[in-house]
Amino acid sequence: MNLVTLKDWSAEEVATVLEVSLAMKADPDRFDGTMKGKNLALLFQKTSTRTRYSSEIGMLQLGGQAVYLDWDVTNFGLADLADEIKVLSLYSDLMLVRLLKHADVLKATAASRVPVMNGCCDRYHPLQGLADIMTIREAVGRLDGIRLTYVGVRNNVCNSLVAAGVKVGMHVTAVTPEVNPAAADEALYEEARRVGLFDEEDDLAAALARSDVVYTDTWIDMEYFTDPDFAVEKERRLALFQPYQLNAETLGSHKVRIMHCLPAHRGYEIDGAILNDPRSIIFDQAENRLHSQKAVILKLAGKLL
Ligand code: CP
Repeated sequence: MNLVTLKDWSAEEVATVLEVSLAMKADPDRFDGTMKGKNLALLFQKTSTRTRYSSEIGMLQLGGQAVYLDWDVTNFGLADLADEIKVLSLYSDLMLVRLLKHADVLKATAASRVPVMNGCCDRYHPLQGLADIMTIREAVGRLDGIRLTYVGVRNNVCNSLVAAGVKVGMHVTAVTPEVNPAAADEALYEEARRVGLFDEEDDLAAALARSDVVYTDTWIDMEYFTDPDFAVEKERRLALFQPYQLNAETLGSHKVRIMHCLPAHRGYEIDGAILNDPRSIIFDQAENRLHSQKAVILKLAGKLL
């Protein structure tokens, strides 16, 4: 079993990992030693704080170990991806890959002899999606019937919320004036629309008025944020998205939980003060990356029914 996108998992599989994530947080000692002697390979083509560290620490807490490989200091850039992944998998029990392109995640998954987790590509971020639904369930007490507004660029994180929503009965409204072309997944949106769990809205205030949760993410892919060659595009996006920033004015008195997958670009998609707003569950969400990551490791290792 792999985790490339939550589209590939059944509702029962998502529910199992969700329950184990919550149990992991409530009583982590119960899972001591469950990955004893096992090795997780972490291959990263992009930077990371949460995904990398929650995976390394999570694996250690479960009694196993994780080994981090930075793409730039390996021979992945010299060779065929499938050959290098196959070799890596011969030394590992599990693998997590953060690769730029979804097509490469699929190639890696096909080549690996061990289960693979997608640690975020240009189309999906399923580990984030699982931590997100765990956080909403914890904060609100349920997922079925929850209405979430996603505001910003329609990207990999938005896609994973929609995919998770379909599995747990959570409705997602996209207030997304622009879709990242690499992330566009019409089949996913069509399926979510068909089951009444996805729609689109231009008016952020109108969407917030009927939402339990609002969620935003960066307007610009991380790797471009400080790239001088991206300056013109960056200015265009900042102008387009500025009215959609989460701040005291746009949030008003709406009774919504506020989420962000982090890293936050304070003063861009979110005003810095909002991270610590009483309605914010952003740092619970970040903490839950650890608990849910450990549950996914157990699931892929075949330790959960
Ligand atoms: N949200 C998230 O994936 O964070 P990192 O990029 O730091 O892993």
